[in-house]
Amino acid sequence: MSEVRFDDRVAVVTGAGGGLGRAHALLLASRGAKVVVNDLGGARDGDGAGGSNMADKVVDEIKAAGGEAVANYDGVDTYAGGENIIKTAVDAFGKVDIVIANAGILRDRAFHNLEEADWDKIFAVHVKGSFDVIQPAFRLMRQQNYGRIIVTTSNAGLYGNFGQANYSSAKTALLGLASTLELEGAKYNIKANVIAPVAASRLTEDVMPPAVLEKLLPEFVSPVVAYLVSEECQVSGNIFTAGGGYVGRAAIVESKGAVLPGITIEAVRDNIDKISDMTGAEEFSNAFDEVSKRLATATAAS
Ligand code: NAI
Repeated sequence: MSEVRFDDRVAVVTGAGGGLGRAHALLLASRGAKVVVNDLGGARDGDGAGGSNMADKVVDEIKAAGGEAVANYDGVDTYAGGENIIKTAVDAFGKVDIVIANAGILRDRAFHNLEEADWDKIFAVHVKGSFDVIQPAFRLMRQQNYGRIIVTTSNAGLYGNFGQANYSSAKTALLGLASTLELEGAKYNIKANVIAPVAASRLTEDVMPPAVLEKLLPEFVSPVVAYLVSEECQVSGNIFTAGGGYVGRAAIVESKGAVLPGITIEAVRDNIDKISDMTGAEEFSNAFDEVSKRLATATAAS
């Protein structure tokens, strides 16, 4: 069986000083990738940045195992930080082939207690933090006609979670980013996919019981991410869920719906079950296809 390799590939992993990012970085490096280990070494809620220790430790681990890596300590939540993370890859290794936007924090509160700063900080790290790193890399990827991108969502982003209105909203925004990067990157052999992981880390250490966490090592998620950023991967714009050895695909689908000529409020009320029936639900690859197909259905029925 041939091994999936990353020789001559340069990967940037954000938030790679611990948890999932560390596991992604170690796995890619063990298969030949040159890795930029980014982590600003902050606290779980994003306060108290500045420690270089976390990224350095992972770089040391990679080097001790015979791999190549450099550390970067910028926060992903500023554009200058994102640019510098990509510059670190170019300066050290000459290019960037892979970006795994993984850095993340939590500021959980019930929606009615959420403060503006908790909303803004979560969006700054997860949404803008993905943009800040991916855009400078995407420009280089277009020029070299090659790129592999991962954004990190959450099952909270896919399905919602009590106390995570800010986090789940930010995580859902990343689905839109990957869907559009799929379209804009296609011509340049740039693939962008989404991972929805579940793993034991400092973000989840008090969310799940120890017996469950033991079965959810980050190392069970990284092979999925590594495949998706490999040259062999040809899928793009898809969402994969992974944890504890389980791997699945999630998708946004739309019901066959109902055509309601002369539509009224009452017609919507009377057809709400038919509108909502997901039998034969469809997945669309872009916004234009969805609108065209729905208009064609309405026109055919009228
Ligand atoms: P973690 O806390 O172990 O790792 C996140 C890393 O990001 C930390 O090392 C932190 O220092 C770094 N970071 C935070 N803000 C940063 C910034 N502005 N710039 C650079 N680095 C920054 O947590 P974990 O669980 O490994 O999370 C990784 C990603 O996976 C996050 O995006 C998280 O939201 C997501 N996720 C994790 C799940 C899980 O079950 N662990 C579930 C769903 C999503």
